[in-house]
Amino acid sequence: MTGPMTVMPLASRIEDLRRWSRRPALAPAPPGAVSLAMGEPDFPTPAPVIEAAAAALRAGHTHYADQKGLPELRAALASRLPGHPGRAWTADDIVVTHGATAALAAVVLAMIGPGDRVVVPEPAYSLYADLVVLAGGAVDFVPLAPDLHWDLDALAAALPGAAMMIFSNPSNPTGIVHREQELKALGDLLDGSDTLVVSDEAYHRLVYPGHVMTSALEVDSLRDRTVYVQTFSKTYAMTGWRVGYLTGPREVVDAAAHVHRTHNGSLNTAVQHAALAALDLPDGVVDAMVERYRRRRELVVGRLSGVPGLHLVPPEGAFYGFLRYDAGLPSEAVARELAERKVLVRAGAEYGPSGEGHVRISFAASEDDLRTGLARIVRHLGGGRC
Ligand SMILES: Cc1ncc(COP(=O)(O)O)c(C=O)c1O
Repeated sequence: MTGPMTVMPLASRIEDLRRWSRRPALAPAPPGAVSLAMGEPDFPTPAPVIEAAAAALRAGHTHYADQKGLPELRAALASRLPGHPGRAWTADDIVVTHGATAALAAVVLAMIGPGDRVVVPEPAYSLYADLVVLAGGAVDFVPLAPDLHWDLDALAAALPGAAMMIFSNPSNPTGIVHREQELKALGDLLDGSDTLVVSDEAYHRLVYPGHVMTSALEVDSLRDRTVYVQTFSKTYAMTGWRVGYLTGPREVVDAAAHVHRTHNGSLNTAVQHAALAALDLPDGVVDAMVERYRRRRELVVGRLSGVPGLHLVPPEGAFYGFLRYDAGLPSEAVARELAERKVLVRAGAEYGPSGEGHVRISFAASEDDLRTGLARIVRHLGGGRC
């Protein structure tokens, strides 16, 4: 006999997250639809990486690894950090994580608690705010300037007393590359404070001609207050392998390592051997993928420029176009309408209040899908529909 259903009370944190989060659960594109929604390289993982994983498994690397990551992988990562040898990092400064996702979670949960305020320039990668909510902290969204770079006056007003500021550079969802001058200005604004900076540089290899990537670790005034987050997902087309890492001030690294080993345990051992192989790939392997993204970026800019009713700041890096539309509808409704017309994009509102009136287009998709998808977008949103 079955009794009445018991309603299990959920923890207040998940209730808060559900109330707050605009991140959709992702589903595969239905038949006939093209997806420009995913931040996921469509290239296969380079063959030597796959071989290295298989060889590691055959060689018996099938047991737990060091909880901070394989020492040889951490040493290799430390020697390749931007800004090295400006500061001498060692393997002890690195934690290998389950993707950048777990690196971000580890640092937020290690450093943020109830009452702590976290500045998030927005539109921003939607994971940041969700993690802050999960940690019980307060998200302080600071809108970007109209050119999608930081509004330094607004940041100057918001930063005093903040426990942390999080951003991605190059930026998901805007495709902006924050310039060295912007980073230096941020360092000046933070001078004398104890605000921690989290710089998520997942797209560091994807920077288009005319733009230059400067890591926060290369900026003197930021280096010692920055947690640097990185991943193999985008650079090496390794999203499914789940390898990321972080470095930063030693006490923060140690605290994040503690959270990570509590939440995640050690990372898959064979995958870490594969990550080592990825670091040894000839530059040309990544350069060839970057060149394809560059051509796709041209395609996006060429197809969308000058279309009445649509406005695009040309992407400077990453593989996203953040498209503003004149149609007076909420972005979640526009994304639904576009899905009905068989092109999937992400609603701008997912990335913060200023994302309203935009959709995010990913050009980590084949050129054919991109042409088809862009044509469907222009047909539906072009022409200044209000
Ligand atoms: C800015 C940014 N950071 C982190 C991630 C997550 O990366 P990972 O696959 O390493 O968890 C993404 C994925 O889209 C991203 O866009």
